[in-house]
Amino acid sequence: PAPTPGFPLPSLHTQQAYDPAANFTSKWTRADAKQIMAQSNPNVAPGQNSMSPNVTMPEIPKDFPAMNDDVWVWDTWSLTDENANQISYKGWDVIFALVADRHAGYGFDQRHWNARIGYFFRKTNADPAKDKWNYGGHLFLDNTSIGNTEWSGSTRLMQGNKINVFYTATTFYDVAERNAGGGGIAPDAAIAKALGNIHANQNGVTFDGFQHTKLLEPDGKLYQNKAQNPGFAFRDPYTFADPAHPGKTFMVFEGNTGGTRGSYKCKQEDLGYRPGDPNAETVDQVNSTTGAWYQTANVGLAVADNKDLTKWSFLPPILSANCVNDQTERPQIYIQNENGKNKYYLFTISHQFTYADGMRGPDGVYGFVGNGVRSDYQPVNNSGLALGSPTDLNMPANAPEGPDPRQNGRQFQAYSHYVQPGGLVQSFIDNVDGVRGGSLSPTVKMNFKGGVTQVDRSFGQNGLGPFGYLPTNVRVGGEGHY
Ligand code: FRU
Repeated sequence: PAPTPGFPLPSLHTQQAYDPAANFTSKWTRADAKQIMAQSNPNVAPGQNSMSPNVTMPEIPKDFPAMNDDVWVWDTWSLTDENANQISYKGWDVIFALVADRHAGYGFDQRHWNARIGYFFRKTNADPAKDKWNYGGHLFLDNTSIGNTEWSGSTRLMQGNKINVFYTATTFYDVAERNAGGGGIAPDAAIAKALGNIHANQNGVTFDGFQHTKLLEPDGKLYQNKAQNPGFAFRDPYTFADPAHPGKTFMVFEGNTGGTRGSYKCKQEDLGYRPGDPNAETVDQVNSTTGAWYQTANVGLAVADNKDLTKWSFLPPILSANCVNDQTERPQIYIQNENGKNKYYLFTISHQFTYADGMRGPDGVYGFVGNGVRSDYQPVNNSGLALGSPTDLNMPANAPEGPDPRQNGRQFQAYSHYVQPGGLVQSFIDNVDGVRGGSLSPTVKMNFKGGVTQVDRSFGQNGLGPFGYLPTNVRVGGEGHY
């Protein structure tokens, strides 16, 4: 790409694949992430969208419908197989979502402390514009999961009617924190799974028989733990098979670089500038004049040690964002054939408020492409930004609970984007011009190939598809075969 005056060039990434167990971690560098601002328009009227329309989610209308009147709904995923196919089970589409009671007396921003996994179902081939998702209630019986709060994960159909629910078992110790939202005793976090049964009949879908197993806790070496940082992230498991390594099951998850908070020193490879780049920062500069070392996100990798998927081993992270961003959440691997070759897209969501000093980007989904699960990932669009909420990046970063009124009112319109087969991207509504969400967004379509992404504005109405459109692409049990 032609350099933008005043900005560095992005890092060079080969996309070369390494063995999944190799000690190589791809870097999302400061040089890469600085392309977000290099590609943003510095001259928009304050509060407009400064990003390219290709990476901007179309605007969600303020009068969006609530998906359910009793629960807020946020992070959502479909019933899938090991290849990210979305499964119709005996004629039903099934989705899982974090839910919290709308009538319990706490606000939308306290949902994380009160999160449970809920599920919804609707007939395969329903009219997504008219037919509502039926709410099935909580997936697990009260007080049966590993923690006291259930955070994000993924659900896989196994043999017959067995399903494995991979989830984050978060345990809060501080009741005041649960009600007030933050600041109290740090929670524990473990990655867990529950093996159970799915049942379907003409009335809908039910689940039972869940057996819960704790799978992983952060080791403090590859993955930061609570003793090292009360604000650590260890969550959002997503499992998949890799055609290059048949018979194995892998998991990606959100982590942070191991070590005590504040002890990390930014390295040349985290900065990633090309030799002689006149717009490069030096390692000394970053380590002495910024606080960028506090931001240490990574995308973790683990491999299953047995067929029951009850025993797992950590592998080194596949991506780190040291000195760039502190959270790379809900990672997923999406394999796409391009010109006869499998290309591995790693998608992960991140926020504006988790960027490091000197860095700026929107809430949205970020992407990286390489030749294998572990590879020298090339950030999509050279920056990593795949699709963000409309934002004026010339203004300072905000958080959804306290947006600056001068900002674009849709800077927090959606979060927790998940890329489905066919490039359909679902997310939840957070804050549309002051109206808080807690319901699924209109699904949008993102075309991507060769490491370039582009919102398809011919999809739906001006690029907005049906609300909560999570269609299935593989049938199990046949339509109506209850
Ligand atoms: C993303 C997220 C996840 C976490 C959940 C908690 O929206 O932060 O990382 O599992 O929300 O509510």
